[in-house]
Amino acid sequence: MIIQEQIKNAAKAAVQALYNVEASEKMVQLQETRPEFEGQLTLVVFPFVKAARKAPEQVGEEIGSWLKENCAALVSGYNVVKGFLNLSVAPAAWIAFLEDISKDSRYGFKPVTDDAPLVMIEYSSPNTNKPLHLGHVRNNLLGWALAQVMTAAGRRVVKTNIVNDRGIHICKSMLAWLKWGNGETPESSGKKGDHLIGDYYVAFDKHYREEVKQLMSQGMDEETAKQEAPLIKEAHEMLVKWEQNDPEVRALWKKMNEWVYAGFDETYKALGVSFDKIYYESQTYLEGKEKVEEGLAKGLFYRREDGSVWANLTKEGLDEKLLLRSDGTSVYMTQDIGTAKLRFQDYPIDQMIYVVGNEQNYHFQVLSILLDKLGFKWGKNLVHFSYGMVELPNGKMKSREGTVVDADDLIEAMIKGAREMSADKVNRLEGLTEEEAQEIARIVGLGALKYFILKVDARKNMLFNPEESIDFNGNTGPFIQYTYARIRSIMRKSEGLSAADLSQATLSTKETELIQHLGDLPAVIEQAAGDYNPSCIATYCYELAKEFNQFYHDYSILHEENAANRALRIELSKAVAQNLKNGMSLLGIEMPERM
Ligand code: ARG
Repeated sequence: MIIQEQIKNAAKAAVQALYNVEASEKMVQLQETRPEFEGQLTLVVFPFVKAARKAPEQVGEEIGSWLKENCAALVSGYNVVKGFLNLSVAPAAWIAFLEDISKDSRYGFKPVTDDAPLVMIEYSSPNTNKPLHLGHVRNNLLGWALAQVMTAAGRRVVKTNIVNDRGIHICKSMLAWLKWGNGETPESSGKKGDHLIGDYYVAFDKHYREEVKQLMSQGMDEETAKQEAPLIKEAHEMLVKWEQNDPEVRALWKKMNEWVYAGFDETYKALGVSFDKIYYESQTYLEGKEKVEEGLAKGLFYRREDGSVWANLTKEGLDEKLLLRSDGTSVYMTQDIGTAKLRFQDYPIDQMIYVVGNEQNYHFQVLSILLDKLGFKWGKNLVHFSYGMVELPNGKMKSREGTVVDADDLIEAMIKGAREMSADKVNRLEGLTEEEAQEIARIVGLGALKYFILKVDARKNMLFNPEESIDFNGNTGPFIQYTYARIRSIMRKSEGLSAADLSQATLSTKETELIQHLGDLPAVIEQAAGDYNPSCIATYCYELAKEFNQFYHDYSILHEENAANRALRIELSKAVAQNLKNGMSLLGIEMPERM
């Protein structure tokens, strides 16, 4: 049991014995002792003052002395400051606690029971007309981390993805490929499928813009030119054919989407993310249309003269929202209604979380209201995990279109950067095969990327700085990974040493603080899950690594002469490594055995 719980139980026993008070959980308030006072944990005595009918100082004195006498194995000393009882936990209790942590290879992780709340987390959710970019990277990392954190906090988690696989965007790529592709395939060109499709999307755009320019030079206004350009008309015709199930269009669509999925899968694999269930818009949009028609019949929505269907949300402080176009085709919102319906049919979801960028805040506000109106009781409480934009410093890695940073390029550059970093420190990697060195570069490069993105508050816009992220000093993934690798090296060297009785060790303040910090992990996980905030985990790992490095700097470990102290320090190091590894795993970050 964590020390806090042990102390709380002892305090309950004390007030029961002294004042005949049955203390509730809320009455027993424990804090960390302020650094200027002696002790590690502080009990607030005010809640017992009334029952005791004594001054706070005296109550503190009485509880302190009772604990010292009756729980000597746990409490070794105390002092009272006003209504606060500062307690020194007995070294033996800290050491026993350390041994408990060390033994539990998943310390801080709650078991997931069959009756735990079921949380569905949607993340990634790309369109199929282009490859994943830096924004998706942030999304995928957040979604994955959130899922890990929720699981560690004992929730049942279903990771899901909605692939927006139909619509005008994919028709544009298809049309361009038909016109200018000469039958190019991923095999024939050696290009990843998603990149290939992305190239045709760009080609479409280029030709389309030329057409618009041409029409405008003939005197047409821009708005009309954009609608009248032959290419866009052709793309729309293709979309209509798609909706009519035209076999040729469908076959091409299927073939090209499959290329894209093969490409996405590679990127997902490289990022280390996966899904339990993937939904496709092509399979959900009809459900959405049906629900909208139902809502129309119930008078929740209305039809305009041109045949389009709208929701009037002005009463809710929003505006009017299009749900079906005048030609009957569905929009983005329609699809989301259908997708939500299917998901709740498939799973007994207690909580639905959408990991989607903050440019869609309004969309999810509307979705929540629409689902509620349509009678889905869970609509009201859906969670939009809304994150900010991520950019690279100017001039770094602009893709050809000059707008977004490609995810695959970024991952490759990070691994290369990590490899170059380790080339500076050749001796550390001495004796490793090329393969092993490359594997370390992969772990460190991705660790740098993931940590830098996940350490910041998800809501904030951020700048991803590759150089800074890979620095071995400072608040970075590689710094924490390096701390871990250092401990693993100590562990390898300690293997031959004989065992010793830890209870004979003396415990310094620094060591006590480290044990106390180790004990915080369960509460940090709980907080990260409750606040949907994986960055707490990053902060925890960083602080722990920093504290360990100070300890490592100030104390000998393997060279300590007293066998019991040496064994204690090895045990402590081992537990730090374990917590670092488990904590970082929640962020999807692997740890190298050496680096
Ligand atoms: N595919 C969309 C886009 O790229 C994001 C989908 C987000 N999820 C959702 N349920 N609407 O903008």
